[in-house]
Amino acid sequence: MQKVNISDLNHFVEQEVTIAGWLYNKRSSGKIKFLVVRDGTGYAQCVYFKGNVSDEIFDKADRIGQESSLIVKGIVKAQPKAPGGYELDAKDLIIIHETHDYPITPKEHGIEFLLDNRHLWLRSKRQVAIMKIRHRVVKAIRDFFDGRGFTLLDTPILTPNAVEGTSTLFETPYFDLGSAYLTQSGQLYAEAGALALGKVYTFGPTFRAEKSKTRRHLTEFWMIEPEVAFADLNDDMDLAEEFLEYIVQTVLKEKEEELNILERDTSKLKNVKKPFPRVHYDEAVEILRRNGVDFQWGNDLGGGDETIISEQFDRPVMVHHYPAEVKAFYMKRDPENPKYALAVDVLAPEGYGEIIGGSQREDNLEILIERIKEHNLPQSAFEWYLDLRRFGSVPHAGFGLGLERTVSWICGLEHLREAIPFPRMIYRNTP
Ligand code: 4AD
Ligand code: MG
Repeated sequence: MQKVNISDLNHFVEQEVTIAGWLYNKRSSGKIKFLVVRDGTGYAQCVYFKGNVSDEIFDKADRIGQESSLIVKGIVKAQPKAPGGYELDAKDLIIIHETHDYPITPKEHGIEFLLDNRHLWLRSKRQVAIMKIRHRVVKAIRDFFDGRGFTLLDTPILTPNAVEGTSTLFETPYFDLGSAYLTQSGQLYAEAGALALGKVYTFGPTFRAEKSKTRRHLTEFWMIEPEVAFADLNDDMDLAEEFLEYIVQTVLKEKEEELNILERDTSKLKNVKKPFPRVHYDEAVEILRRNGVDFQWGNDLGGGDETIISEQFDRPVMVHHYPAEVKAFYMKRDPENPKYALAVDVLAPEGYGEIIGGSQREDNLEILIERIKEHNLPQSAFEWYLDLRRFGSVPHAGFGLGLERTVSWICGLEHLREAIPFPRMIYRNTP
């Protein structure tokens, strides 16, 4: 059987083809049955005329339920009114698996029901579009770094200690060695990689036992972490803006159809071009106060604060020089004024909040040991990390991009749970 992808039908106008897929939708009009078939590459309307096909085939077309799997043979016709612009004048119908009572119908369903049926929900037009955009974002990320001399470095998922603070660790027993923890970030290992290879990036799953039940939090998410030797905070911000511009512009160019399915207003995404505004934390505090927020200097920015700041700009904004107190132990402090960390968060527009967190790293051995003590972290667990400051230490910087937050923003989703195939959240670890 020579099977054709639905997305390729335009190459076969007036020719007979075979497509294989699932029944997405069905309607009739007198002596005509319209079967909309999906195959993962697109949607094709298959038209069965009574009289043109045998009664047996016509009855089958009438009988089968949504999501039955099937093979259709027919002649491709240009049809501007059909989804995708082409339809099949169907000649044959082979049923692979006849299905009835598929639980997800075109009517509205509640979100909990859809999440319980995530394994089936993924087949819907909207979810397919999101997964395709996610895949394109992943490819853009790899292309970006691979094309700029970065080496992909896979970092461990089972780790002996915390990176981003001890309160959000998933713990698991580990043979005779006590406990292991699911990684919160590959960064510390990426730093070792940068000192070996110059420029590296990690791309893997990360875990946070966050108690937060917000639309921006998953307990399992994917993070991309570049790390660059001989780089400072400004280099880090240059890299972050070039990176985000590349991702967004690539998706706009190559995933127009999917963005249309999602009814995404892309006018705001078109602005995602460098340079991005760079806002010092103190200036961010000013913006908040001007907008009526009673904000205390020294606090971290909350989700609502981030929204107010990003609303002032038409593209992502980079907030830098956060108070060191609210940031991680490994961040270098500003030598000019050590109450600030050489940190940057990139806030996405339209209320999507922080999508990137990064910094220049502390490269001085004595200071780093001090920080580890201040944060009540066990120095012994970090001896290997301290070695990076004992042997050929250099200024270096990097950041982490959350994949699901990025996909969620680009797709215009209300909640991160749709940006990953099988979301893991505080109240859900199934299916
Ligand atoms: O700001 P974070 O915690 O930074 C780090 O982990 C650093 N080690 C990164 C680095 O410098 N190499 O996390 C980075 C990004 C956030 O900006 C956000 O996009 C995403 O990871 N993120 C989450 N995404 C979904 N659910 C969560 N619970 C997330 N926590 C962080
Ligand atoms: Mg952060």
